[in-house]
Amino acid sequence: MAEEGDSFPTPRHVAIIMDGNGRWAAARGLPRVEGHRRGVEALRRTVRAASDLGISFLTIFSFSSENWSRPQSEIKDLLMLLRRFIRNDLADLHKSNVRVRIIGEREALDRDIRLLLQEAEDLTRNNTALTLVVAFNYGARQEIARAARRLAAEVAAGRLAPDAISPELLARNLDAPDVPDPDVIIRTSGEQRLSNFLLWQAAYSELVFVPTNWPDFDRSTLEAAIIEYRRRERRFGGLIAQTGS
Ligand code: FPP
Repeated sequence: MAEEGDSFPTPRHVAIIMDGNGRWAAARGLPRVEGHRRGVEALRRTVRAASDLGISFLTIFSFSSENWSRPQSEIKDLLMLLRRFIRNDLADLHKSNVRVRIIGEREALDRDIRLLLQEAEDLTRNNTALTLVVAFNYGARQEIARAARRLAAEVAAGRLAPDAISPELLARNLDAPDVPDPDVIIRTSGEQRLSNFLLWQAAYSELVFVPTNWPDFDRSTLEAAIIEYRRRERRFGGLIAQTGS
């Protein structure tokens, strides 16, 4: 999809809020779980497309800290889909040289899920193509609070002066400090909120909202979102040129 004479690179890090599974299902008279199932298929397509497009990091919001307030049956379905995704797709991801990283609070999760997440990270640790960052049981405020707690413990132990706490130091204590901030955050289904996703890391991200429900998301939707991102970059370039710098 690179355009002739295009000097703006593909974004290094794309993050996606995969929204609209329930509405996709409701519009077809199907149970919500069917929307989530088709959402996993959309995820497979998107990982392949992101790899092909040369994106280095893809972060997906797969289960939020707030999702626990959904009905028990839906939580069970979502956890089942995560288990299946890792069991069925991990080998393929590994073969495709994809590295899997997990962000979010793991302590409270069932032991078998914690082990699966750990297995996915361990198996793919040395892979060098796309890094797939799965935000699971993730909330940005919780992540920032975890980082603050770590720093507070250092201060309490006398190893850190309060004055030494800078934005850079806090960032180094987030869940995946070596992952660069997202260049673009895409939210599907027409909603225009961040909903407690990557609040710290989103400080300078472009936000792209697309009307497509997540189960219908595919390579062309991803490409269109990237073209929108590039269009905004171009405008910024124009502004710099106008000011003569
Ligand atoms: C939003 O749709 C989507 C989610 C809550 C979860 C996203 C999950 C998947 C794509 C499948 C699971 C994948 C993994 C790797 C676990 P919604 O239910 O909020 O849709 P609605 O707003 O239309 O109700």
